[in-house]
Amino acid sequence: MSVYLIFLFLCLIALILVCFGIILFRKNQTHKNYLKKIINVFYQIRYGNLNTTLTGARTQLEQELENVINSSIESISDRDNMIREHIDREREMAVLKSDFIAALTHDLKVPVIAHDKTFDLLLGNKFGELTQEQNEAIQNLKTSNMDLKYLIEALLETYKLEQTRLSVDIAYGVQIPLFIKEIISLIEPIAVAHNKKINLTISTSEDFTADIDKFLIKRVLQNLILNGLSHSVNSDFIEVALKSKGENFQIDIKDNGLGIEEEEIKKIFDKYYSGSNGLTRSGVGLGLYLSNKIVKACGGKIKVKSNAGENTVFSIILPKYYKNNPQK
Ligand SMILES: Nc1ncnc2c1ncn2[C@@H]1O[C@H](COP(=O)(O)OP(=O)(O)O)[C@@H](O)[C@H]1O
Ligand SMILES: [Mg+2]
Repeated sequence: MSVYLIFLFLCLIALILVCFGIILFRKNQTHKNYLKKIINVFYQIRYGNLNTTLTGARTQLEQELENVINSSIESISDRDNMIREHIDREREMAVLKSDFIAALTHDLKVPVIAHDKTFDLLLGNKFGELTQEQNEAIQNLKTSNMDLKYLIEALLETYKLEQTRLSVDIAYGVQIPLFIKEIISLIEPIAVAHNKKINLTISTSEDFTADIDKFLIKRVLQNLILNGLSHSVNSDFIEVALKSKGENFQIDIKDNGLGIEEEEIKKIFDKYYSGSNGLTRSGVGLGLYLSNKIVKACGGKIKVKSNAGENTVFSIILPKYYKNNPQK
């Protein structure tokens, strides 16, 4: 009898334990399901679906958690909408601005080019023989007109640089000495108009090649040579020297001008910095800013050495083999 009672008692305990087990298991399962729901909601947010909400809270704690998560989703969604609207507005403005600048620079360039052609006709005596004074006056007009054309182009390029990342378009195996000679012959008329000469020294026997963006590097050389010409107040020539230095090549542009004070050197590559010393013509301070950006984008650097009151040497050091754009 007592054995039977003990057996019954044990059965009862086992039943109670099984019931507890079932209750605990179900509770655990509900928690797990709820956690899975929360994880799912976070996944939805991560993949950009902000229309999602968390539901199914059973306890007060779960309800609190649900409220916090749902209100956070709402505020993220509000901010997301605001950002999207802002980006759309910026895009519209950028298109308007770019159209405006493109139209403006085009409209500014047309008369400048027309003037240049007219000056050429006048200088070629197509409208009758010019006197010495008339010839000089027209030559001066032609020079300032060229400066203006150059300025408009620099403005347009700066604008493009601001809008898009500077994209480098590499031409492989460019004959560098030849390339530099071609650029100098293009600038020669401006030098002549300013009564200056450009002396080129190529201190390398080999006719070496390099991978460069011809358009951009031409722009840099033009900037530096024109700066040299307009600052070379103590002599009637500037010197351009090309050196091949192992993996790199270097182009020095030296003028015998008033030089640049050490304090000023820190500022000359800044956008719109243009120092005026009363003797030299100055532009709008974009030349060196642009040149520096371009040379860096091409994987090189610009160095300046100046003896105030005597001379200035700008050096461009560029790799011969273009690997990749370090700015990207
Ligand atoms: N070769 C040079 N000799 C002396 N000063 C120079 C020379 N090149 C540039 N600079 C100084 O750096 C300034 C910035 O040059 P740049 O960016 O080309 O602008 P900008 O020529 O339009 O003034 C010049 O205004 C001038 O003060
Ligand atoms: Mg300049």
